[in-house]
Amino acid sequence: MKSLLVVLLAAGSMSLGAQILGTKHDLSATGSGARTNTTQTCVFCHTPHGSAAVASQIVPLWNKTTTVTTGFTMYNTTNNPGSSLQGVVDATPTGASMACFTCHDGTQAVGNMINLPNDIVSLTYTAAGGVNATGFIASGSALLGKDLTNDHPISITYPATDTGLVAKATVLGLANSVKLFGTLGSEKVQCASCHNVHSNTLAPFLRVTMSGSALCTACHIK
Ligand code: HEC
Ligand code: HEC
Ligand code: HEC
Ligand code: HEC
Repeated sequence: MKSLLVVLLAAGSMSLGAQILGTKHDLSATGSGARTNTTQTCVFCHTPHGSAAVASQIVPLWNKTTTVTTGFTMYNTTNNPGSSLQGVVDATPTGASMACFTCHDGTQAVGNMINLPNDIVSLTYTAAGGVNATGFIASGSALLGKDLTNDHPISITYPATDTGLVAKATVLGLANSVKLFGTLGSEKVQCASCHNVHSNTLAPFLRVTMSGSALCTACHIK
């Protein structure tokens, strides 16, 4: 009985480890949406060697060139006059959010990478969804563009002064839930606070279910 349980657990964790495969974030030849000619999946975002220089390593072992940082219009109290934000918003997307924009602002091909996988000489695309034949997210709801004034604030510090928010220490202590990013003391909300790029178990790539708006109430006392 005990050994059966071990086997079941092992099988369970194996499928957990493969969650990105077959999702829209699997851009390999066997992906489900837009695809390319390589058999590799992680390489579109990470590489084991020769990744971005430390200053541009917005994500561990990041394999993409940072997008042009100018031209973004942020959600903040200047651009959104009705807002009562107390957190500090960066002038342009930073960290894990900038990582998303290397594909989702639509200004560079999803297969633009620093270190190409070894199984191909050059990348070719099979268009699908909003991704066109040259690999750009060119249309559809995945094209966020650079105007972020109608999107939930990102690259914003999680303010202790906003009593409408769950205490930061509580949020930081949550397991398998939302995630704050950045340096100790000035942790921020980024795209990846709500989204898990590696798993579409809770579509679309969410960290917490939207049923009962549980994702929102992980941070907001509402
Ligand atoms: C579409 C882009 C993308 C792909 C493909 C991707 N990652 Fe990531 N990865 C990210 C981003 C963005 C982060 C930082 C945000 C975060 O931690 O959720 C990250 C963070 C990580 C981290 C550090 C944080 C953590 O969760 O432990 C590891 C390890 C990692 N990825 C491994 C992988 C592996 C292994 C694969 C392939 C099976 C992969 N990633 C595929 C974008 C990607
Ligand atoms: C390597 C390029 C790449 C990166 C980096 C990337 N994405 Fe995506 N993402 C895609 C593509 C391609 C699609 C599918 C677009 C389509 O089919 O129209 C997609 C789709 C999505 C979707 C929609 C899924 C659906 O079912 O409609 C979400 C949500 C998403 N991405 C979130 C993120 C977030 C958050 C980040 C950063 C943490 C990120 N992505 C980083 C390429 C990328
Ligand atoms: C506060 C949480 C939160 C943050 C931060 C956030 N998202 Fe989302 N995102 C969601 C939820 C929830 C959905 C699903 C909406 C629905 O079901 O109607 C979604 C949907 C999406 C989709 C699918 C298309 C759509 O509009 O439904 C994409 C692509 C996406 N997000 C990308 C991003 C990117 C890129 C960022 C950073 C700029 C980001 N998200 C930041 C919560 C968030
Ligand atoms: C990871 C934590 C987190 C999650 C999850 C989250 N939020 Fe937020 N949200 C924040 C923070 C931090 C702010 C900025 C608060 C401030 O500056 O006072 C904010 C701001 C907002 C604002 C703007 C308030 C203003 O005055 O401009 C709205 C509206 C909002 N969130 C709604 C949502 C909804 C709806 C969801 C679920 C889809 C959600 N949030 C999920 C952390 C989060």
